[in-house]
Formats: sequence, C-alpha cells, structure tokens
Amino acid sequence: MSSPSPVEAPPHVLQLLSQLHRMSLEQEATISKTGKVFSSVVMGDLEGRRPDGNPRDAFDQLMLDKFIALDEDKCQFMYQLICSMGATNIVEAGTSFGVSTIYLALAVAKVKAATGKSGIVIATEKEHTKAAIARKYWAQCGTTVEQEIELREGDLLETLKSGLLNIDILLLDIWSALALPTLKTVQPHLRQGAVVITDNTISGAKGYADLLAYLRNPENGFQNMTLPFTNGLEMSVYMPRSQ
Ligand SMILES: C[S@@+](CC[C@H](N)C(=O)[O-])C[C@H]1O[C@@H](n2cnc3c(N)ncnc32)[C@H](O)[C@@H]1O
Repeated sequence: MSSPSPVEAPPHVLQLLSQLHRMSLEQEATISKTGKVFSSVVMGDLEGRRPDGNPRDAFDQLMLDKFIALDEDKCQFMYQLICSMGATNIVEAGTSFGVSTIYLALAVAKVKAATGKSGIVIATEKEHTKAAIARKYWAQCGTTVEQEIELREGDLLETLKSGLLNIDILLLDIWSALALPTLKTVQPHLRQGAVVITDNTISGAKGYADLLAYLRNPENGFQNMTLPFTNGLEMSVYMPRSQ
C-alpha cells in the first residue's frame, strides 16, 4: 500500500487539486491513445495529417484549452523535494492552468514559514487565456498559494531572461523542443546543488534527445538519475566543478 499524500493544505485546496488532476487526465485520454500527451508525438501526428500547415500552430491551437498537468504523484514528489531542500526559489517552465504550481506554492510557503527565508515560485505561460484560468484557480486556493507565485506571461525564452536569482529548482514541464533552450536560459542562475526536474524522460526520450545529451555530458555540470515514475522523471543535480 502506498503512503498517504505528504501535501498539507486546506480541504478545499486538496479537493480542487483532485478535481483538476481528474479533468486533466480525462482530456489527455481524448487526445492520445496512450492516455498521455507527448508534444513531439502529437506534433509529428499533426505534421502527417496536415503536410501544408504549420504543425506548431496547429499544436498550439489544440493545446489552448488543455491542462496537460503534471501527474499527481510527480506533483507530490515536487512538494517533498522542495521541503527536503528547503527550496524557496523555483522556476516552473510551463504552467498551463497552474496545477503543479499550486503544489510548488504550498511547499514554498511551508519552507518560508519554517525557515524565515524569502523566495518565490516563478511560473511561466505564453497563452494569456491559460494564464487567466491559472490565476482563477490560484485565487480559489487563497492567498497562501497566490502570494507565493509570480506569473510571467509570454514566451519564457524572453520572460526568463532577467530577474532570476539563486534558483533552487527548475521544473521542465514544457514542450520537449523548448526544454534545452529553457535550461540554457536558467542555468547561469542555478545555485550549486540546484535540481532540474524534467517530466516524461523515458517515454519522451526521443523528443528530449538534445536535452538529455546536454545533461549527461559531464562538462555541463549535472549528475543525473531517471526516477521510475510512469513515463520517467529526470532528476538532475547541478554540481559544476567551479562556480
Ligand atoms: C505540459 S503544460 C504545463 C503543465 C503544468 N506544469 C501543470 O502541471 O499544470 C506546458 C505549458 O507550457 C506552455 N508553453 C509552451 N511554450 C511556451 C513558451 N514558449 N513560453 C511559455 N509557456 C509555454 C504551454 O502553453 C502549456 O500550457
């Protein structure tokens, strides 16, 4: 029997999270035969079906009303990781309707209350309609969650160019083609021992080939482990030789 959830939150927040995870999974089941969406696979399918159109535009259009939320157990792991590291400065690459962000905010609030540290969860979303829905869910959670999040709207390769300090954790829950450019944007601001978490690195390995090659090249300063969550979850610890 698995352990109960480590997440501490008011009942209405826990209820909202369960509901959002359920909605997300139901949506994904309608898009993908495997029940999970991998951006490179869906984009490849769209390319095959519409050889004349731009598959990226068609993909963005299809994803406009989709959660594609991080799995519940992975969200709980993020919560545990933040508490164990005493992390308070988090970057979330890919926020969508803000489900995983709620876990990050709950954990950061807990660490801040216990340690007196400062910090913030930097969330990123390029679609303004998705950002508005995320803000609505965060408001439903209440100020404990809302006040921990700074949402940067627009292309994260632009919005993350400045204002990052001593980042403890980078969560890469973004379309796979964007993962490496995002890492390279944030890497100069990672602290020694920072953790980069990347979703779906087993099932999505093909789409992540460039990212995984970069992370696994010892010159780039990461030590890596693929955690055995469904579809894989890469945990990369930033330990550059000298910084
Ligand atoms: C997998 S979803 C994130 C799910 C979210 N972490 C959760 O658990 O609820 C990825 C999101 O990244 C957003 N996105 C894609 N390209 C982006 C970009 N260049 N800048 C910012 N956000 C982007 C998409 O619109 C999508 O909502």
